[in-house]
Amino acid sequence: SERVSISALPQEVLLRVFRFLGPEDLCRCGQVCSVWSQVTRTGSLWRHLYPVRWARGVRQILSLCPNLTHLDLTQTDISDSAFDSWAEFGVCRTLEHLDLSGCDKITDRTLKILSLGLGDLTASSPDRRAKLLKAPPSPIKLQDEHSLPPIGRSCQDLIFKRRPGGRGSGCGPAHVWVLDPAKLADIEDAADWSRRGGLSAQESGRGSIFEQQGGSGSCCCRRSRRRSFRTGISSSHWQYSSMGDALCGHSTCCTSDVSLWTVREAHCDLEATGGSVDFRTKCSFEGESCPEHHNRTDQSGACRTLRFLSLSGCYQITDLGLRCLSQRGGLPLLEHLNLSGCLLITGAGLQELVSACPALNIEHFYYCDNINGPHADTASGCQNLQCGFRACCRSGE
Ligand code: FES
Repeated sequence: SERVSISALPQEVLLRVFRFLGPEDLCRCGQVCSVWSQVTRTGSLWRHLYPVRWARGVRQILSLCPNLTHLDLTQTDISDSAFDSWAEFGVCRTLEHLDLSGCDKITDRTLKILSLGLGDLTASSPDRRAKLLKAPPSPIKLQDEHSLPPIGRSCQDLIFKRRPGGRGSGCGPAHVWVLDPAKLADIEDAADWSRRGGLSAQESGRGSIFEQQGGSGSCCCRRSRRRSFRTGISSSHWQYSSMGDALCGHSTCCTSDVSLWTVREAHCDLEATGGSVDFRTKCSFEGESCPEHHNRTDQSGACRTLRFLSLSGCYQITDLGLRCLSQRGGLPLLEHLNLSGCLLITGAGLQELVSACPALNIEHFYYCDNINGPHADTASGCQNLQCGFRACCRSGE
């Protein structure tokens, strides 16, 4: 019979084989060749290896990187507790890109903490809000960069202070990259986003973090909701698909040249409406469980600069979490929002959030096909169809 070399195996088969390997063997396989190296970087392979260290590592990263602009934690086992330091120090004031795809332990609490960390635009006048949105966020500087805490020490021992001359002085934020997206294999949304000339690269003059990639453009994730069909299947449960992980390669499937709204347009919109985003301030969490109870963030530097947010597969998210994001000034610069696989949210919750996101690009707005939400005819459908490792009410169809 014909013998087939292991190097001829398709990547989806390699991925299944690699699932049986431990971290040391995965590292060895990653050094065999470029293809194996790429496959071994797939997030789902590493997801369950060190669940405890994920939380501790993320807490340290968030504490030590106060000027973080890009955070990708795709397919990790992190839970809400990893983000507690955000509410403490407001370190996500400069955050532009947050990808929590596949982080299915995330709940509404993380969104509440995120909203707190981004700051409160409602504390500012409309003029000041518009001014804040034009200026780059002030970087935060570690008071003593040589006194960083050793591994394991509480992140709360850190003291931050604003850089002298901060806002308006022309200093851009120091760009701290926690994880190098170019070295991860499954950052689907981020790759698509960057390939279209990601805003952060255009507006800040930074280079794109991804190389241009070709693709078939035929993947399910790019279809319009108009073309999707609704099955009436209950969204109260979902199942893992047996169709394999590699059927939906989002990072290479999208090639249509969709122009994005620019930050300037978002600013103009905000100014034209007098900053009339639907500002809601009522807290939906109670007592000690409310992250705001511990919040010590200085609100004077609030910018809410988030432009990209993916919660794909975070099926525990509810309307309560969406409401947290729409509070405190909403997300005035947000253009990409992926809520695929968020089975518990409703059309009303989506509508409330969308009303607080005036810059949202409908082409980059994804949610469950079985939810009758805003822009149902034009928004993109769920990205998790036929995806074997993220929540979707229609997986396996
Ligand atoms: Fe409903 Fe994917 S979550 S279609």
